[in-house]
Amino acid sequence: MDWKSGNDAILEFAELIREKKANAYTGELKVGVDLGTANIVIAVVDENNRPIAGATQGASVVRDGIVVDYLGASQIVRKLKGEVEGILGVDLTYAKAATAIPPGILAGNTKIISNVVDSADFVVTNVVDEPTAAATVLGIQNGAVVDVGGGTTGISILKDGEVIFTADEATGGTHMSLVLAGFHHISFEEAEELKKNESQKKIFPIIKPVVQKMASIVNRFVIGYDVDVIYVVGGACVFNDFEKIFEDETGIKTIKPVEPLLVTPLGIAFNCQR
Ligand SMILES: Nc1ncnc2c1ncn2[C@@H]1O[C@H](COP(=O)(O)OP(=O)(O)OP(=O)(O)O)[C@@H](O)[C@H]1O
Ligand SMILES: [Mg+2]
Repeated sequence: MDWKSGNDAILEFAELIREKKANAYTGELKVGVDLGTANIVIAVVDENNRPIAGATQGASVVRDGIVVDYLGASQIVRKLKGEVEGILGVDLTYAKAATAIPPGILAGNTKIISNVVDSADFVVTNVVDEPTAAATVLGIQNGAVVDVGGGTTGISILKDGEVIFTADEATGGTHMSLVLAGFHHISFEEAEELKKNESQKKIFPIIKPVVQKMASIVNRFVIGYDVDVIYVVGGACVFNDFEKIFEDETGIKTIKPVEPLLVTPLGIAFNCQR
């Protein structure tokens, strides 16, 4: 799969979520559960990785791969599972599922993430790195995938289809909102709303230094690797000029797929082992 056909799958998945509908399918389903800092997403695909259904909810029960509210996280996954079951008309109890972690997280924290998904009566068959999950959807053989989510900038570098390096560092959409909050003397929550609803023309100049910081993180990680293209995903890269700043700072061609918020969750489902 190349990144263009990846885009088709992402668009299809986005439409399923938006319209709360399911595609017809045969065979076993694969589930992906993304426990993000800002959003929790369940993605369901068929054996051929065609998107079948999905559901999402904003939440702050996990922070950068660390579960800060176990019960809350478990309840949201259960609720989203119920929603997807309703849309599909199928019971997903003990369905096989994959989940994901930011690169470099400690084994104990990985276990807790996996336990949350388990507690919603899924059977966890794989725990994958977030940017690696995104790379699967984009069908990338070479280059870097950078996932800028709520809390962190994560990177996977691929060579000939193999992930040869992963890393993760603080700085995500949350930091953009903190900068906006400081600039306008408003609360973090107000800044989150402003960031998403005000015109990018007004927001972007203020949060641009955060994007430059993200690019400088990437610059440090790609040293010594042969990276010709950077693919950016995650909710913090939705700004139109995001790629341009990345290109200016890194000197590397930067590509953003459609619906960057949904790439990693879909890729987690792709990585569900049967
Ligand atoms: N329309 C938008 N404009 C600007 N920022 C947005 C928009 N939509 C979402 N975001 C930001 O994207 C971030 C969430 O992205 P994403 O869902 O990829 O993160 P996450 O997976 O929950 O977090 P992480 O991967 O860091 O644990 C939040 O900071 C949110 O404010
Ligand atoms: Mg994420």
